[in-house]
Amino acid sequence: MATLLHLDASAEPEDSRSRALTAALASAFAPGNTVVHRDLHTDPPPHLPHPGLHWAPPLRTGGAPGPAAEATQRRLIGELLDADALVVGYPLYNYSLPSPLKAWIDHVHVPGLTAPSPISGSPLAGRPAVLVTTRGGDYGPGAPNAGRDHATPVLELILGEEMGMDVTVVGVGMTLAGRESPERARSEAEHEEALRHLRELGSRLGRTPE
Ligand SMILES: Cc1cc2nc3c(=O)[nH]c(=O)nc-3n(C[C@H](O)[C@H](O)[C@H](O)COP(=O)(O)O)c2cc1C
Repeated sequence: MATLLHLDASAEPEDSRSRALTAALASAFAPGNTVVHRDLHTDPPPHLPHPGLHWAPPLRTGGAPGPAAEATQRRLIGELLDADALVVGYPLYNYSLPSPLKAWIDHVHVPGLTAPSPISGSPLAGRPAVLVTTRGGDYGPGAPNAGRDHATPVLELILGEEMGMDVTVVGVGMTLAGRESPERARSEAEHEEALRHLRELGSRLGRTPE
């Protein structure tokens, strides 16, 4: 039996594109497996309360973060380390990450615990992480906004390059295109293709833990 950590960060409760997409992966993964769902919007981690939390205890040089902050961090890191696979759904907000997802990253990216350091390797190396992003505009090659998405590159850097996870990005753009515009048809086609891809990924990850 495998475990999926399923994170959502959209502030939209009813009609969220990214939530629908991560749910498709989770449903395909679920049969015979465990899905742990953390809604980062309705149950957000606090802003990082102490800089010492960025380091494993033996690597810290400043004061102690305090027991409540340590307990929150232990819970978030524990969920990540216990999962065989991760799916994260997030809209682009102001060219960047939704702030609760940034707070989650600030808690779980810890050299010496989840990322390599002089005292450890990366316990997450090779584990699958699926990044599911939705964007109101067009960020494709040649579009005026190309290169202005500052959310996905950060997650690829932290989860992929730093923690060593095996990252796959599935994105849907132009979600704010008007009903009659040609971009609307492109966005709907991207959404259908993303759903198909995520269902296939979910059932594959559910069959092959780690
Ligand atoms: C606070 C806020 C900021 C946003 N900023 C951007 C942005 O910088 N670029 C963009 O393309 N879309 C932006 N959008 C639009 C969302 O990325 C888009 O509607 C997305 O599809 C929402 O995903 P969801 O349906 O999962 O909530 C913003 C939306 C909100 C609510």
